[in-house]
Amino acid sequence: MFSNFQIFPEVASSMASKVDAFYFFMIGVSLFFFTLVVLLVTVFAIKFRRKSEDETPKPILGSLKLELIWTIIPFILSMVMFAWGAVLYFDMYTPPADAMNIYVVGKQWMWKIQHPEGNREINELHVPLGTPVKLIMTSEDVIHSFFVPAFRMKMDVVPGRYTTAWFEATKTGEYHLFCAEYCGTEHSEMIGTVYVMEPGDYQDWLERSAVASKSMAEEGAELYSQLGCNTCHEQETGARGPSLVGIHDRQVQLMTGELVKADDSYLRESILSPVSKVVAGFAPIMPTYKGQVSEEDVLKLIAYIQSLSYETAPSDIEATESERTE
Ligand code: CUA
Repeated sequence: MFSNFQIFPEVASSMASKVDAFYFFMIGVSLFFFTLVVLLVTVFAIKFRRKSEDETPKPILGSLKLELIWTIIPFILSMVMFAWGAVLYFDMYTPPADAMNIYVVGKQWMWKIQHPEGNREINELHVPLGTPVKLIMTSEDVIHSFFVPAFRMKMDVVPGRYTTAWFEATKTGEYHLFCAEYCGTEHSEMIGTVYVMEPGDYQDWLERSAVASKSMAEEGAELYSQLGCNTCHEQETGARGPSLVGIHDRQVQLMTGELVKADDSYLRESILSPVSKVVAGFAPIMPTYKGQVSEEDVLKLIAYIQSLSYETAPSDIEATESERTE
């Protein structure tokens, strides 16, 4: 009867046991003090009860020793919780540098997932065992939340921006995926399955499930020329738009003099709202592509831009940079 009834979800990621340990520590501390307080209330109620009608209690003048004890012990305990929690928090929110990227777009009411290799899936996520996976997520409509209890991982998926989360699966199997933010009528059906596979099986799966033989970056390249991005973003100096070669995750200087990092969010904003952060030396003439490209398309374009490495044309960047500083 209770085979389906688990108090705790499975432990299937590198973070899960760490989160559990912290959780049990806090439960333990709370239980200890709860018991202590209940016990003392009971004992004192009996011990110091009024024994005769005319009994008047003695005034209490305070005790420095007691006050110090009940201040210092909780202080130390809460600092331990704070430090432990902060270390865990940074661990959870800092993906390892070698993590593989997987892109998630939430919409009412499904999870759309793209792998850099070009594979796409809906309400399913296949990942290799023992590899850190970074999820780059956004929503096409309202706020959703990507929740995999077995990984102790939950992150809101917000329209208009990218949020990231990461995990490293430590056990093969199938795990529940939930939407954990009420998002409308079928919120409760916005569920799915995460499949953790041996790395070899994952490679097989990638090949088996490849719909098109194109990677995300290749699809992005097609979109890039369909939309005519290349007519302005040329590599030559004097082009109407800045060259995008090697721009991903690099610092760029804006018209306002401000320096910003050309990360995923910046590139997304520049596609959908181009005039908000214009690169120094260029006019705010780029039209918006809002409504013409879906969130999935934007991710493909970013994947393409990311694939344009320095090595392709380093001299162009030098040229545009020296020109800008003049
Ligand atoms: Cu999506 Cu709830």
